[in-house]
Amino acid sequence: MLAQPRGGSWPRRLRRRIALILLACFMNLQAQSVDSEPRIDALLARMTLEEKAGQMSQSTSMRSPLSEEIKEQIRRGRWGSFLNAGSAADRAEAQRIATRESRLGIPLLFGRDVIHGYRTIFPIPLGQAASWNPELIRQAARAAAREAAADGIHWTFAPMIDITRDPRWGRIAESLGEDPYLTATLGAAMVRGFQEEGLAACAKHYAGYGAAEGGRDYNTTWIPERLLREVYLPPFQAAREAGVLTFMSGFNALNGIPATGNEFLLRRVLRGEWGFDGFVVSDYESVTEMVRHGVARDAAEAALRALRAGVDMEMVSTSFYDHLPALVRAGKADPKLLDEAVRRILRIKLRLGLFEPEAPPATASIQPLEVARRLSAQSVVLLKNRDGVLPLPKGIGKIAVIGPLADSPVDQMGTWVMDGRAEEVITPLAALRNLLGPDRVLWAPGLKNSRDGSRAGFPAAASAARSAEAVVLFLGEEQILSGEARSRAFLGLPGAQDALVEEVAAAGRPVIAVILAGRPLTFSSVASRARAVLYAWHPGTMGGPALADLLFGNAVPSGKLAVSFPRTAGQVPVYYSHLHTGRPPAPDESGIPTGTPVEPKGFTSKYLDVDVTPEYPFGFGLSYTTFEYSNLRLSAAGVPRGAAITVSADIANTGRLEAEEVVQLYVRDPVASVARPVRELKGFERIRLKPGEKRTLRFSLSTGQLAFYDERMQRVTEPGLFQVWVAPDSVRGVAGSFTVR
Ligand code: BGC
Repeated sequence: MLAQPRGGSWPRRLRRRIALILLACFMNLQAQSVDSEPRIDALLARMTLEEKAGQMSQSTSMRSPLSEEIKEQIRRGRWGSFLNAGSAADRAEAQRIATRESRLGIPLLFGRDVIHGYRTIFPIPLGQAASWNPELIRQAARAAAREAAADGIHWTFAPMIDITRDPRWGRIAESLGEDPYLTATLGAAMVRGFQEEGLAACAKHYAGYGAAEGGRDYNTTWIPERLLREVYLPPFQAAREAGVLTFMSGFNALNGIPATGNEFLLRRVLRGEWGFDGFVVSDYESVTEMVRHGVARDAAEAALRALRAGVDMEMVSTSFYDHLPALVRAGKADPKLLDEAVRRILRIKLRLGLFEPEAPPATASIQPLEVARRLSAQSVVLLKNRDGVLPLPKGIGKIAVIGPLADSPVDQMGTWVMDGRAEEVITPLAALRNLLGPDRVLWAPGLKNSRDGSRAGFPAAASAARSAEAVVLFLGEEQILSGEARSRAFLGLPGAQDALVEEVAAAGRPVIAVILAGRPLTFSSVASRARAVLYAWHPGTMGGPALADLLFGNAVPSGKLAVSFPRTAGQVPVYYSHLHTGRPPAPDESGIPTGTPVEPKGFTSKYLDVDVTPEYPFGFGLSYTTFEYSNLRLSAAGVPRGAAITVSADIANTGRLEAEEVVQLYVRDPVASVARPVRELKGFERIRLKPGEKRTLRFSLSTGQLAFYDERMQRVTEPGLFQVWVAPDSVRGVAGSFTVR
């Protein structure tokens, strides 16, 4: 094993060697695909219809220890894959039976939800996205893949690259936020990271699942084709371009057609337009759920519909195995479609090297806990820091640590952690005690958990606050309030947390609020009482040390929101790249303070009772230092179609601490044949600047990046003026303009 040198980076020669090894692995995955087709032909020629349908079936029924029934089924070729099943030893034994004792010796494929870490838990994906750091995210995916692969897992159901603009939807926690460019970039980094370590990735949930009406999970989605192609599909196309081996079809009906029976999505776009040659797995029983959707009379019809649409493997429900062989025999299902599906599945099994199990080639070592600590720190977003109260001075006397999320390992891990261990999580309380010594930390939870409504713990919390020089309050949402089927209609802090803040603030000490949550919450009463607010998501195993680093200045916040934060749930959806409308509100007329008579100044697109703008915009995040943006320049006043222009700007660190800044590039097409968003992200870069240092950043912007779908759904770049910003977030920045000729 190669260990990273302490405090330094790899020597260049070693880095190049590692890169070559990684490239060789990747090339190997590609090369095997070419060689594998004759082998697949030979297997297909020998397979019975039942064996084919078996390959197309994935089960969750493998329990520990393996039952005689399941062993017998594996020998018969009843299953091609298992998900979230058994122990590492069971998987090894099941694989031995499949490869040695079944008629054709076809190996099983073991899938698992390794969503944001396996044993080492990284921040939830929405938190990772706030790092805007594809390289670090790739490292985290590699670390997760390595831990999972060591336990006999071949395939993860990640990344989830559903765009969502609805914090009510619990699965926003698993998403990479609201923006197609950011999601595409970070999702592709995850795909690469997983697959570099031999773990097949799965781009899910194809497609549109994140647009569930009302933010209610599994709900209907209506997405016009232009929006679908410009916002919801690009991350999937990027995953495909990054070489993702599998896709998962969604639970949702998209424009009336369930994604799992959707020929437009699966055949026309995925296979036809993008040339995807891996396989598509359904979501959990989403094939037979088409009966409840009302587009199939029974399981047999659902199986036929999914097969025709392009689903290759059925997850959990058994309609493929139960009905496809008979449907073929009755002349109702095309046997070529079965062969095609089995071919795709075998292709991936071959590509993963499952037919020739041998030790995978060594790749550079990763230190998962180190990656987790860095990623947790970079995912935290500083939303407020009045009078520079943060970082706290290291010489401070006592601090009070209060709140239901200060010492809650399970909650800190967040949704989808099948293999993370609570006992390995370092909580903020533990990390702060470790940093300051136990005597300087006064601990009072105040509430038992985030939903606790009892005030019984308040007196102890207030007394701790009075005895301390500063209060750090850990608030938010428990693990079980976000994730699948965990939609919320109210976005406020649950339980008596608002009252706890009030009680603690009455002690008169500076309050620092740290919010741990799986989604954007609304917490204006906390933000107004606290001097500083850090938004930490569910930060995972190393969340505690990362937060202690940030609170005491051993690290400087650099996270930026990957999603807009609403002021209230009634504003949803609120996202930065909206259209302008014909009646945009004037800056001074949105939101009418309570008590004043309701006399809207104009008939404009606004609310009477709240500002239309978000509480915190997409891309926003403060630092302990300050950055100044200036001097936007363009390499030319105009650019011919098909060429690129260079946009540059100077970024200076005008504060007193060395820090990182995520610099963002936005464009707007103010006049086009189709109304265009007020801004769209087209690039970003994370840079590190010393105090007083100034750097010129250059972004290359091709006219292809300005293209959109016109009235006839043709992708075009229209000539004319374009505005451009180099910016710290989606509302500010230095601006310029250029023309496309
Ligand atoms: C989820 C998928 C997940 C699958 C397997 C489904 O309910 O929607 O994202 O991969 O279960 O656990």
